[in-house]
Amino acid sequence: MGNFFSEELINEIKDSNEIVDVISQYIQVKAVGLSYKALCPFHNEKTPSFIINPEKQIYKCFGCGEGGDVISFIMKMENLDFIESIELLAKRANIEINRTESLEDIKKQIKGKNLYYEINKKAGLYFYKNLTKKPNPALKYLLERGLTSGILKSLGLGYSIDSWNSLMQYLQEEGYHLSDIEKCGLIRPGKSGGYYDYFRNRIMFPIFNVRGEVVGFGGRVIDDSMPKYLNSPETQVFSKSNILYGLNFVRRDTRNRQIILVEGYMDVVALRQAGFKNAVASLGTSLTEFQGKLLKKYCDEIIVCFDGDEAGEKATMRSLDILNKIGCRFRILVLPDNKDPDDFIKLYGKDKFQEHIDNSMSLIDYKIFLARNEYFGDTIEDKVKLAKKISDIIKDVKSPIEREGYIEKVANETGISKESIKLEILNKIGNTFVHGSKFKYSSGYRKSNSYIEMVPPVEQKGHIIAEKQLIKFMITDNKLIRYILNSISAEDFSVAEHQEIVAYLASNMDNMKDKRLEEFFPHLKENINKILLTDIEYIDLNNTLDKYIVNLKKYKLLYNIRILEEEQHNIVNNPCLTEEEVENKLLNIGTEIMKKNTQLQKLKRSMKGG
Ligand code: UTP
Ligand code: MN
Repeated sequence: MGNFFSEELINEIKDSNEIVDVISQYIQVKAVGLSYKALCPFHNEKTPSFIINPEKQIYKCFGCGEGGDVISFIMKMENLDFIESIELLAKRANIEINRTESLEDIKKQIKGKNLYYEINKKAGLYFYKNLTKKPNPALKYLLERGLTSGILKSLGLGYSIDSWNSLMQYLQEEGYHLSDIEKCGLIRPGKSGGYYDYFRNRIMFPIFNVRGEVVGFGGRVIDDSMPKYLNSPETQVFSKSNILYGLNFVRRDTRNRQIILVEGYMDVVALRQAGFKNAVASLGTSLTEFQGKLLKKYCDEIIVCFDGDEAGEKATMRSLDILNKIGCRFRILVLPDNKDPDDFIKLYGKDKFQEHIDNSMSLIDYKIFLARNEYFGDTIEDKVKLAKKISDIIKDVKSPIEREGYIEKVANETGISKESIKLEILNKIGNTFVHGSKFKYSSGYRKSNSYIEMVPPVEQKGHIIAEKQLIKFMITDNKLIRYILNSISAEDFSVAEHQEIVAYLASNMDNMKDKRLEEFFPHLKENINKILLTDIEYIDLNNTLDKYIVNLKKYKLLYNIRILEEEQHNIVNNPCLTEEEVENKLLNIGTEIMKKNTQLQKLKRSMKGG
C-alpha cells in the first residue's frame, strides 16, 4: 500500500513532537553539551551510547547502530508500524487526522492552510515595512515606551496604517483572492458590498505557531480608543485558545526549561528586551487545557505571572487548576501593586524581576498569601477566620514534615499558636477521614501470624522506642490515631505485636474510648502494659510526633534494603543460575536498592529541612 499520509502532514507531526520530549517519556536522558545522552533502550548497556541531537531532531546509538527520527523511534519503541506511529504522535500533539479522508482531501486541506500561512506572512511583512517608514505614530509610540528597534524587528512587530483598504489592495496586487484574504481574518465584508481592512491604525503583533508560521495578529491602538487590543478572529489556522504568544521564540532555546507565563503581548516584548527570552502570553484570559499541555511539552517548570488585579487573580486560580490537572510543575509570581511585568521592569529593573522569579510561590504558599489578603485584620475574629482558612489549606499537604514546616511558618507570621493550628487541622483531617478511609483493616483485626515480623537487621533501639511512643500517643489520645495513621500504617511497624495493636486501633478508631486493649489481646497484656508504663514523658507534640513517623518509615526502608542485599548474596552463590541470569537478576535488584536509597535520602533531607 502506498504512503497514506502526505509529506506535509508527516512534517507537521514531526515538528509538533520534539524528539527529546518524546524520548524522555520512555527513558531518562541527560543533557551533555548541545546534545542528550541516555542508556540505549534497544540494547543492553551500562554506559550510555545513545545520543539525541535536538537541533537535527534525530537519535543515534553508537553501541547498536539504531538511529532515526521521532517516528522511527516510536516504531521501534512501541513496536508499531509506520501508520500506527504517525497516529500515536498525531494524537500526542493534538493533530487531527481523519482516516476516512482521502489523500486528495488531506492534500487540499494542507494546501489551503499553507496558503493562509503565506497570506498572513505577507501581511506581517507589509505591517513591518509600514512600521519602518518614518515618521509614523506607531513607531513613535513604541520607542517612547522604551522599546528598541532591535526588539521590534526580532519579534516582527508592525503597523497597520490608518486606511480602510491598504492591506487589501497590497495583497490583491500580490495575486491573492479576496475570499482567501477574508478566510485569514484580515478583511471583512462591508454593508454595501466589497471589503474593508480589519486592522486599521494599530500596532501589530504577529502571532506565530510553534513552527514559526504566522497564524494571526493582535493589534493595539495607539491612542485611548477601544477596544485596546483587537485579535484575529478564529480561522482555519488561528484559534485563540490553542496558541501561546511567544512560544515559537522560546522553543529555539532547547536549554531553557523554565517558561514565564504572562497575560499580555507587551509583557512578552518587555521581558524579552530585558533578557527574559522565555516568556509567553495566553492572549488575555486564563489558560486552556490545550495551552497547558503545549507548555508542558516545552518546559519543566512554569512561572505563572498574571496581573495582580481581581480578574488576574481569578485567571491565575483557573490556570493553576489546569496545570495541576495535567501534572505540570509551576510556581506563582505575584508582583507588588498590581503591576504587570512590563510596568514592573520599567520601574525596578530586571534584577528585581529575577529576584521575584527566584522567590515565586508554591501553590500552598500562594493560597496562604490570598487568605492573608482576605483576612488581614487584627481583631480576634479575623485571626480565627484566618487560622481556619489556613488550616484548611495546610491539611492538603501530604507530607507531615512539610505540613509541620508550614504550620511553623504560619504560626510565626500570624502569631497564632502552633497548637491551635494543629488542632484545627486534626479536626479537619478527622472530618474527611471517616469517609475515605485508606486503611485496609475495615473490620476486625488481623491475627498476629498474618504479619511478617521484621527482624531488625541492625540494632535500632531508637526506632523501637519510636514505635512505642506512637502507640502510646494513640492510646492516650484517640484523636491522634487518625493523624498518625494518615501517614503510616500497621505494616510500617517492625514488631509483630505492635503491628497487631496498631491494626486494631486503625479499625476501631471511632469507638476506642473506653476499650481496654488487654481484653482484646490477652496474650499481649504484658507488652501493652510495658508500652503504657515506659518512662516516656508526654512529649511536645509539635516537635516529636512527625519525627517518630519519619523514623519508622526510614527503618522500613533500611529493612527492605537489607533484605534485597541478602537476596543479592543468595543469587551470587546460587550454582543453578547461568552467568547471564545472575547478571540480570543482580541488575534488577540493584535498581530496586537504588530506588530505596533515593527514598531514604529524600526522607533524611526532609528531616533536616523540617
Ligand atoms: P492588558 O490590558 O493588561 O494589556 O491586557 P497589556 O498587555 O498590559 O498592554 P499595555 O501594556 O496596556 O500596552 C492583557 C492582554 O489581554 C488581551 C491582550 O492579549 C492583552 O495583551 N486583551 C486586552 C485583549 O485581547 N483585548 C483587549 O481589549 C484588552
Ligand atoms: Mn501593560
